[in-house]
Amino acid sequence: MNKHDYIIRRETSEDFLTVENLVRESFWNVYRPGCVEHFVLKCLRDAEAFVPELDFVMEKDGRIIGQNVFVKAEIRCDDGASFPILTMGPICIAPEYKRQGYGKKLLDYSLEKAAAYGAKALCFEGNIDFYGKSEFVVASSKGVRYHGLPEGADDSFFLCRELVPDALASVRGEYAPPRCYFVAEENPDAFERYEKTFPPKEKQVLPGQIF
Ligand SMILES: CC(C)(COP(=O)(O)OP(=O)(O)OC[C@H]1O[C@@H](n2cnc3c(N)ncnc32)[C@H](O)[C@@H]1OP(=O)(O)O)[C@@H](O)C(=O)NCCC(=O)NCCS
Repeated sequence: MNKHDYIIRRETSEDFLTVENLVRESFWNVYRPGCVEHFVLKCLRDAEAFVPELDFVMEKDGRIIGQNVFVKAEIRCDDGASFPILTMGPICIAPEYKRQGYGKKLLDYSLEKAAAYGAKALCFEGNIDFYGKSEFVVASSKGVRYHGLPEGADDSFFLCRELVPDALASVRGEYAPPRCYFVAEENPDAFERYEKTFPPKEKQVLPGQIF
């Protein structure tokens, strides 16, 4: 890979189906047998909290090989205030291009754009091995807790990234993923109807899945 062999641009409505297919291929059997992220993305685009200005696709040789989106969220501060932040995802790279550096390029580009958009910080569930390379840290180290997680439980999956230096320095509170991320669990029939519009794919139980 070199910096001239891909472009990153805003997603358009003509990309929607291609991108949902990409998300399905990329997430399939990674976190659960099958996946729901393609349905989540489809529904997110219509959610009030969705940020269309930060809806990106990565293109290589005229083909979309990556995507990332952002959603408005908040930290509910212990003093009763609300601190506006963004959350992120789904983010993915096409299976055949994983582990070649494209994900980090897409992530770093979209974080720059999120900062330029005016976001101060981001909270997100992810793998520190990947996101740590782009300055994400475990959110509890910045005083942000994950809603519903018992005290002392492993919170290493819950990450944050300041987009303005020290943005979270005086923030203490709790984050819950915006409701729009639970659309598949809340509407299983709608999800199944949507999933049936894709070519059949084998669901597998694999090591490392979390659901
Ligand atoms: C996660 C994802 C976006 C990363 O994109 P990518 O292009 O594969 O990642 P990169 O090649 O840019 O990785 C950069 C570095 O991050 C780390 N990294 C990337 N993916 C990793 C993983 N799954 N586990 C551990 N470390 C990882 C590695 O250190 C990697 O460098 P290396 O390959 O030289 O060791 C991509 O693998 C993907 O689409 N996965 C499936 C969907 C998904 O899980 N999305 C994220 C949900 S939180």
